[in-house]
Amino acid sequence: MTFLGTGYLGATYAICFAELGYEVIGFDVDEAKIAKLAGGEVPFHEAGLDELLRKNLASGRLRFSTDYAEVAEFGDVHFICVGTPQRADGMGADLRYVEAAVSGLARHLTRKALIVGKSTVPVGTAEWVEQLVAKHAPSELGVEVAWSPEFLQEGHAVEDVLRPNRIVVGVRSEWAAAMLDAAHEGVVTLAATEDREVPVVVTDFATAELVKVAANAFLATKISFINAMAEVCEAAGGDVTNLARAIGYDPRIGNRFLRAGLGFGGGCLPKDIRAFQARAQELGAGEALRFLHEVDLINQRRRSRVVRLAADMLDRGYGPAGPELAGARVAVLGATFKPDSDDVRDSPALAVAATLGKAGADVRVYDPQGIDNARRALPDVTYEATMADAVRGADLVCVLTEWAEFRTADPAALGELVSGRRVIDGRNCLEAAEWIRAGWQYRGMGRPDGEA
Ligand SMILES: NC(=O)c1ccc[n+]([C@@H]2O[C@H](COP(=O)([O-])OP(=O)(O)OC[C@H]3O[C@@H](n4cnc5c(N)ncnc54)[C@H](O)[C@@H]3O)[C@@H](O)[C@H]2O)c1
Repeated sequence: MTFLGTGYLGATYAICFAELGYEVIGFDVDEAKIAKLAGGEVPFHEAGLDELLRKNLASGRLRFSTDYAEVAEFGDVHFICVGTPQRADGMGADLRYVEAAVSGLARHLTRKALIVGKSTVPVGTAEWVEQLVAKHAPSELGVEVAWSPEFLQEGHAVEDVLRPNRIVVGVRSEWAAAMLDAAHEGVVTLAATEDREVPVVVTDFATAELVKVAANAFLATKISFINAMAEVCEAAGGDVTNLARAIGYDPRIGNRFLRAGLGFGGGCLPKDIRAFQARAQELGAGEALRFLHEVDLINQRRRSRVVRLAADMLDRGYGPAGPELAGARVAVLGATFKPDSDDVRDSPALAVAATLGKAGADVRVYDPQGIDNARRALPDVTYEATMADAVRGADLVCVLTEWAEFRTADPAALGELVSGRRVIDGRNCLEAAEWIRAGWQYRGMGRPDGEA
């Protein structure tokens, strides 16, 4: 099998499916990325993946290529894992990479094969991919298309690919269903040896495409729901962390993804809920998803809240153009959109760092894994190599990604380094009582001022 697009999704899949015993080629148009992977280096941070890459390169089951002809010749099942970012001119998804990958591959096919979309796409894309295939591959080959959306989470990606909590496939024929059964046999067998079962949902194209965006819409809504409660708590003097704990005990609600904080970001949730709205609008069902606009706005307002808190704590004014922070030294701890990843796409932490910098603050950013990507995305703040370097001399410390290194940091020791003991816990991930005991002025999200 082959995986076209070796980013966070495709590289993880290529490596893990080789680990499961399949013969795999990972393909990308990015030659530098392919050279790294072929040389045994994962071009991004994902725990456990480096080791699996080297092991499977050595086994001979895994190789990498930038040659469509080689990939077309090699594979019976081709997974499309390319990016589907937000369009530059609107909220919809940019499908140009899907188009390029499918047409590039289809042109070189010489026998029947199955092309399986894994990228997150607007409903209707699988049908359009069929048309692309019909245009570019000889019709007598009978090349077919299927869609199998992906639910892996960065930071747990290896585990999520080897041990998915479900497999969803949208197919049009029994042949395609059987090919996908065979392609997932390794995952199902592994589950059986561990006394687990992987639920499989076999459905039509439209449903398979919608499952993914519906799941992301639900998760984004859950996060924004609790962040909306945080806003109300801020106005009313409540504590959202206790509120979340108390409502989360109800199993119908559950406590996962119910942490108030700086909100969601990354390469998926923000662009997926926007693309979903744009597509629903095109289909005449825009009204049904209007709430996702609010979900997005609540999420964006959390970023402004941190900037406002920063101005408050530093006794600075907040005018129509935002806060005035000239001369203030601010340590930003965290650049990635979540811990255990180096991904800074649409990162709330980096967005806040950028706003603080624009407001005149001298911003010093530290992140355990994300600094290289962050520097490319936001060159005009200062990056430090350690947490201590970022914090030294700071008037304010903002913890904006909940890395373990920050959660377990010693507030007394950090207090010795700063100019002013002020901390904003943008993820409600610190032991507030400890920080307050160590002399810090502590502000969390959706919590009364300075309270543990
Ligand atoms: N990252 C995740 O956690 C995750 C989870 C589920 C679904 N997804 C979805 O998977 C898709 C890929 O996401 P990602 O995070 O891996 O993106 P990414 O940007 O890390 O990787 C995309 C890769 O596609 C490559 N590419 C572009 N054009 C190509 C072409 N014509 N042929 C082959 N490769 C090409 C790029 O060079 C890049 O390496 C998106 O649709 C995303 O929404 C991502």
